[in-house]
Parts: sequence; structure tokens; C-alpha cells
Amino acid sequence: MLHVASSLAPETFRLIYLDPPFLTGREQVGTREGCAYDDRWAGELDSYLPWLKERLYALYALLCANGSLVLHLDWRTSHHARVMLDEIFGRKGFMNEIIWHYTGGGRSKRRFSCKHDTLLWYSRSQQPVFNIDAIRVPYKPTSGYAKSGIVANSGRKYMPDPRGTPIDDVWDIPIINPMSLERIGYPTQKPLTLLNRLISALSSPGDLIGDFCCGSGTTVVAAHNLGRKWLGCDLSDAAIECTRQRLNAECGIKITPG
Ligand SMILES: C[S@@+](CC[C@H](N)C(=O)[O-])C[C@H]1O[C@@H](n2cnc3c(N)ncnc32)[C@H](O)[C@@H]1O
Repeated sequence: MLHVASSLAPETFRLIYLDPPFLTGREQVGTREGCAYDDRWAGELDSYLPWLKERLYALYALLCANGSLVLHLDWRTSHHARVMLDEIFGRKGFMNEIIWHYTGGGRSKRRFSCKHDTLLWYSRSQQPVFNIDAIRVPYKPTSGYAKSGIVANSGRKYMPDPRGTPIDDVWDIPIINPMSLERIGYPTQKPLTLLNRLISALSSPGDLIGDFCCGSGTTVVAAHNLGRKWLGCDLSDAAIECTRQRLNAECGIKITPG
């Protein structure tokens, strides 16, 4: 990641999404042959946090003046990363802590099951691109407001927006079903719905989007299909091969291997 980042022009990316190893202490293995990455860190936090910090500084330099970074982590390290990002972007750079809530998988009998990831959104300016209207969702079927609006004490009547309601910072998006055609067997593959939402909200068509731990290529596929320019890289040859195949199958882009 660092050598790719250092070879790029500074201040060019509108959005960088980073979904790095989470310090799970395991080798992450997918169902597809050769698709695995090592998430074991000798020294645990003492080696992981400096590794992450160096990369966050490098990526910060690549963001354009009102560019955004979204760092995707979970309960293991998101609190450390938030302090780090405050230091890098300044506290005013903090925009949102987005909770991605999902269901499925096993349930703990010893504590509440961990069923969310944390996406830390920081921006280099306080006026980043933010297309909230691009990602409105339908009102809940039980919403009285959606049916007939609401009358304020002043007598003014507010009617529901036909485009739906703006979303908040808790996103319920299912993980990719094991039987889904979207699942390609890369470990910790993220759903396209999640990346479509982030890219639609935090960039505009024609903008450059980067993912420096691109894994199976979810970000670059979403970016391409939303009319953005993109750059993806990963340490793993298997990840690059998955991404190449997905770009071919899902976007019609042919890239010769090697
Ligand atoms: C959580 S996975 C990313 C999954 C991806 N978002 C997807 O939807 O498929 C983390 C990725 O980081 C990659 N990685 C680990 N260390 C890296 C490094 N130093 N530079 C670039 N990629 C790295 C791994 O190979 C792995 O593909």
C-alpha cells in the first residue's frame, strides 16, 4: 500500500475507503482457492496501530481538499483508530461514526453478540461532498408521517418527501448470503450495497475513488458502476485476481492478468 500511495499525485482522491485487517488474530480464509490473508500480529496492538497510523497519514496526503476517508473497523480497534484520525485530520475533520449493523452467524451465550462494524468518516474540510438525497430510503410502512404528514404547533404542515427519508448513521445491511451470487469466496468480502451507499453519498460521478486494501474488489466494482474513476490495490495476488475477474464479469472490463 505504501509504495503505491507514494507513487501517486497528492490531493487527487475524492474518497478513500479502507477496509484493512481488523486484528482478529486469525488467518482469514475464504471458500475460494488461494483466497486468504493473514490477520495475526506479533505484538498485537503494539505492532498493528503503528502500521495503521503510517498508512492513514499516507492516504490523508492523497485526499483532495474536500476529500473523505472512510475507515472500516470493528470493536477491536475502532476506538484507537478514532483517536488516531482526530490527530491526523484534526477533530473538526470528524464527520460520522457509521454503524453497519448486520444479522446472521452464531450468537454468544456469554455476552451480547457483536453484530456491527464501525465506519469512521473523516474529511479534510468541513464541507465534503455529501449527496444525502442520492441515498434516501423508503419510509417505514408503519410511519404515520409517511402516510399523512405532520402538523407543527405553529400550524405548518410538513409532508413526506416522495423520494423517501434521509438515512441516519446506523445502517442495517445484510452480510452477503452464503448462497448469493454476489459472494465470490474472498474472506471478509463486503456487500456492494454498503459500498454503493458510501460512494453515492460521498462522491460525485467522475470523481476518483481509492481502495488500498481492495480484497475481492467490491469498491472498484461499485465505483465503476456508479460512473466514478477508481484505483484499487492489495498485497495479495489472489485479491488482485478476484478483482480482475469481478471487473470483467460485473463491469465488462477486460484486464489481462500479470
Ligand atoms: C478486510 S479485507 C478487504 C475486503 C474487501 N473490502 C472486500 O470487500 O473484498 C483486507 C485486505 O487487506 C489486504 N492487505 C493486508 N495488508 C495489506 C497491505 N499492507 N497493503 C495492501 N493490502 C493489504 C488483505 O490482503 C485483504 O485483502
